[in-house]
Parts: sequence; C-alpha cells; structure tokens
Amino acid sequence: MDLEALEREAQSAIAGAATSAELDHARVRYLGRKSELKLALRDVRDRESGMALNAARERIEAAVAEREQALERAELDRTLREERLDVTFPGEQPRRGHLHLITQIRREIEDIFLGLGYEVWDDREVETVEDNFTALNFPAWHPARSRRDSFYLSEDTLLRTETSPSQIHVMHARKPPIYMVSIGRVYRRDTIDATHYPTFHQFEGLAVDKGISLADLKGTLLYVMRALYGPERRVRFRTHFFPFTEPSIEPDVSCMNCGGEGCHTCKWSGWIEMGGSGVVDPAVLEYCGIDPEEYSGFAFGCGLERTAQLRHGVPDVRYLWEGDLRVSRQF
Ligand code: DAH
Repeated sequence: MDLEALEREAQSAIAGAATSAELDHARVRYLGRKSELKLALRDVRDRESGMALNAARERIEAAVAEREQALERAELDRTLREERLDVTFPGEQPRRGHLHLITQIRREIEDIFLGLGYEVWDDREVETVEDNFTALNFPAWHPARSRRDSFYLSEDTLLRTETSPSQIHVMHARKPPIYMVSIGRVYRRDTIDATHYPTFHQFEGLAVDKGISLADLKGTLLYVMRALYGPERRVRFRTHFFPFTEPSIEPDVSCMNCGGEGCHTCKWSGWIEMGGSGVVDPAVLEYCGIDPEEYSGFAFGCGLERTAQLRHGVPDVRYLWEGDLRVSRQF
C-alpha cells in the first residue's frame, strides 16, 4: 500500500468536500472500519509502519474535523446572509395613530369646562322640531326652519342645526343650579366652501342659577377664550339677536395671529367673531318650567372647526373632514 498516495487522495477528497454529506462520505471511505487504512492498521506487524499508519490516520482525522468546522461556518454564514433573521434585532415599530384635531379640541373644551365645575352633557343629533326651534323661541317664519336650510327626517324631526336644544333637554332633566356644556355635531344645508361644511361641531354652554347676569357671561367667555387662544387675548362684545337670548351679544376675540394689529386672518379688523351668546330669554326658562322671577341664566355657542382653523391656520374647513392623513398627521 502506498501510504503517501492514499493520504494525498484522502486529503484532497476532504478538502474538496463541499457539503457535510460529501465529507461524511470521505470519512467513511478513508477512516471507516473497512477503509484501506483501518485494514492495514489491523494487519500491522512492526512498530515503524504502525506509527506511520497511526500518524497518517491522525492527520486525516484532523483534516476531517477542520473541514467539518469550515463547512459549518460556511453554512452559518449562508443562513445569516440568506435568511437574515436576527431575533436580537429591534422590531419594526408599528405606526400609531392619534386623535383627530377636532376630537383633541373637543376634549380640551371639556377639560376647560370641567375645571369650571360644568357638567359635560352628551346629546342626540336627531332632534325634534319642537326642541330645536319652538322651545328655543324661534318664530314660525324663521328661515332656519325651512327645508332648504335644514335636513328634515320627517315632519317633526330633523338633524339638529345647533347644539342649543341641549339647553332645553338639560333644563327638563335638572333643577337649577345648572352649569352644563354640550359638544357635538350639527347639520345645515350649506354649500361647501373654505369655511362651510354641511356637518360641523359646536360647543354650547348654559348656566342657570340665582342672580346670574350679563357680567357673569362676559367673565366666563373671557376665561374660556383665553384658555383656548392664549392668556393675552382680549374679548369685546357686539349686540346681536338670537331668538332664545335677551339681550344677545356676540363675542369677538383679539386676533391670535396679529395680536390685534390687523392681518389677513382677522380681515384687517384686529378682531375675530367667535359665536353667539346672551342672557337666557325668560320665555325659554318658563317653557322648561323654571321660574324666571327666581332664576336667570346665560348661554353661548361656538364652532369647533373654526377654533381648529384659527389656532392652527387651517385655511380650508374641508381639510378637517376629508380624512387625508397628510393633513391629520400634522396635528
Ligand atoms: N345656536 C347659535 C348658532 O348656531 C349660537 C348661539 C347663540 C348659541 C346664542 C347660544 C346663544 O347658546 O345664547 O348660531
């Protein structure tokens, strides 16, 4: 037997094994029980050839072990490269949503009024004509009652056109003192443009107690407007008319954009209209079974979309309704 030639052959088979199966095959062939080497070792007679054979066996075994390791490393490299699964890698953060701007403002308004001791009153959007108009002292001929201005569901029900009917509901449900704020959607047949949308949100406040006066209304509105638009805001009041308040006043807030100097936002007047308010008309109190000789009250109503637009410079109310995430994500 040519031991050198056998070892060379074994070494090259081991070095050439590309998979662990091929390596196994070589191992059996050159080191197995029936391999030439093992058979020769069994028949060995003299010490010299025994040592030579054993030395060759050890070198071949070492070569197999080394090749085995190399193949394992290569295999690991391949899986790492191809499968790329590293459980210690930080996971992908799922993108979290957040509340819509209008909901954020709604909650902020709730907080402001809860801080003033008001009850947050959740109300329905389908309203009776009676509570939406008649109880609020709207005369029969009032244009808001028209089918062209409001969404009627039947002769005597409609989608509420304002949050003011909450005044009626709360006065029927509670006895004075009453301090409540009602926030929610209202509906009008408006043509859509940058400042009008057929659905929008209002917040409505009502206070009924002994000795309530216009001064209480003014102080409350000043507080609320400063909470919403900043502590340096000034508020002025213009007289107006609403069927359910007497007197009626409209609050203006000094422009939050220019501070009152005059700019595009306030149409160069320095002031921005905020909604309606007034002292509750005695006829409304009486309708709800509250004695106007004993109690008086004030009420106010403002729009949420308008608040959002003014605070964030949102140029078009449609952005707040279209659900475009590029807009929503900004707030
Ligand atoms: N409901 C009125 C509107 O939608 C706003 C309003 C005016 C509400 C005067 C009030 C108020 O509570 O007293 O135009």
